[in-house]
Amino acid sequence: MCGIVGYVGPRQAVDVLLPGLSRLEYRGYDSAGVALVRSDSMDVIKTVGRMADLTGLVGKESPAPAHAGVGHTRWATHGAPNTVNAHPHLDDNGDIVVVHNGIIENWRALKSELAAKGHRFVSDTDTEVIANLLGEMSDLPLVEAVRQVMLRAEGALALAVMRRGEPDVIVGARRGSPLVVGRGDGENFLASDIPAFLEHTREMIVVDDDRVVEVRPDSVRVFDLEGNEIEPEHRKVEWDLEAAEKGGFPTFMLKEINEQPHAIADTLLGRVTGSGRVVLHELEVDEDVLRSIDKVFVVACGTSYHAAMMAKYAIERWTRLPVEIDIASEFRYRDPVLDDRSLVIGISQSGETIDTLAAVRYAKAQGALVIGVTNVVDSALARESDAVLYTRAGPEIGVAATKTFTTQLVAMQLLGLYLAQVRGAMDPARVEMLVGEMMRLPEQVQTAIASGAEIERLARVWGDVRDFFFLGRSGDFPVAMEGALKLKEIAYVRAEGYAAGEMKHGPIALIEKGVVVVGVATDSHVRAKTLSNMEEMKARGATIVLVAEEGDDVGDVADHVIRVPPGPDLICTVTAVVPLQLLAYHVATAKELDVDKPRNLAKTVTVE
Ligand code: M6R
Repeated sequence: MCGIVGYVGPRQAVDVLLPGLSRLEYRGYDSAGVALVRSDSMDVIKTVGRMADLTGLVGKESPAPAHAGVGHTRWATHGAPNTVNAHPHLDDNGDIVVVHNGIIENWRALKSELAAKGHRFVSDTDTEVIANLLGEMSDLPLVEAVRQVMLRAEGALALAVMRRGEPDVIVGARRGSPLVVGRGDGENFLASDIPAFLEHTREMIVVDDDRVVEVRPDSVRVFDLEGNEIEPEHRKVEWDLEAAEKGGFPTFMLKEINEQPHAIADTLLGRVTGSGRVVLHELEVDEDVLRSIDKVFVVACGTSYHAAMMAKYAIERWTRLPVEIDIASEFRYRDPVLDDRSLVIGISQSGETIDTLAAVRYAKAQGALVIGVTNVVDSALARESDAVLYTRAGPEIGVAATKTFTTQLVAMQLLGLYLAQVRGAMDPARVEMLVGEMMRLPEQVQTAIASGAEIERLARVWGDVRDFFFLGRSGDFPVAMEGALKLKEIAYVRAEGYAAGEMKHGPIALIEKGVVVVGVATDSHVRAKTLSNMEEMKARGATIVLVAEEGDDVGDVADHVIRVPPGPDLICTVTAVVPLQLLAYHVATAKELDVDKPRNLAKTVTVE
């Protein structure tokens, strides 16, 4: 996830690009840059750091006036966040300038082809490949060159491109990643999101997938990938600026819950083949080393620990390797038995949680192989691990983890299947079946999000409930734990997450009328047992809510049933957690709490 902006018109471009990018900082903030294009010159100014750093640099360099340009604020996906990898990127002749949001899935193949023709690359990004492909087509109008590149580039992407000496045209293109045009009077804007231009115009065009758009001061023309001109639909923005920054949602948390289908699709992108194999080249770990592993440990905190719980079930079931999971702050104090045949996986969305870092440092010192799973490129966890697997959720602003959790689940499922594949522990047909099911997750999560209105209605009724229990078994257990944590942290309600079968060993004494018990019963091999446990809660007066798969006959045990699309055990954890995120959200907002900044919490915990 990154933010892109373009401007062409009578104003000083820098006065539009810099504030526009600042309003897109929620999309990424590890580096930023602008390109200012004139008829006789072009400046590219970029830096690692936030928009404040770029604004300072532009002030210092004081570029000559320019009335057109493009800009970018980055959330790294390829290459570390540094000034060289910051956008805009140029082709090796310095004629084409590109800003890009998304992932070019076939960038390795394109880069090899271009390198064989003598092209030189200075950054580690996939974007530079696009610039050089366009540089090869200097005889074509820019809009035609971009159309041809879109036919070759695979993956989800949005582009804004300019050419040296052509300050009156910006060409944009979109597949998967968002792109909108702002229509002004004698000026036009291009951006990843509306806030970038909302102070200048409310007239806009949403660029559809597989479209190329040519933006000039007085015209906007949209083409499909066959080159046919399309009549775009013009819209008027009704939101104010604050609502626009949240994509029209009242809070970042709700926006991020709604971004999950996209984030999951991005996390899967390029990591599975059409024939249902998992490809994780990025790990760069010798397969013989992975085959020599005899024990796995997963360490994490908070929500990431719940992803570790799911990972234990997945890795043990799929690879038959023994897996231990640890709350990261406990790991090194229990003196775990580690050696060079141990694999330690650290999960942390921020990659900066000190407890998790301390655990992986300890593991490395004992000779274990460390894989970091994080959402932040070049975070401490990424730098200090032997290998990294990134979730691609984009920046998460709400303190409560939502899209970073579901993408962690997906990343750990990919890693589990990959280990099984490399070690020959699983029938390839079964891997293929599970991969196929994972590819359906974005759509299924979208369906689960649609249950929000019903959950909001229930949450209003429960405004005064003091005690919640969240129960599940097997793969449903981490989902229940996460449901309880969400409710505690944003709604300030006492909520216990428990293994459903454990209730009878003590906590059932707390069950009485007025307690709400949320059961998760999507894991088919334990579902019947979970339902019996829910009967036990009902018999003692609790109100029963059940998360169950569409079409599953759950009898009359529950007062309310929340349906989610069916999926195989463990894979369906991704979908099952969504109603619980929404439940916590609506209980909290019914109490008028600040869900994005809950009390006493920090997004990243860097103290022990
Ligand atoms: O950045 P990390 O994933 O390492 O963070 C771990 C926990 O601090 C985090 O998951 C915390 O529990 C969140 N508030 C969950 O919503």
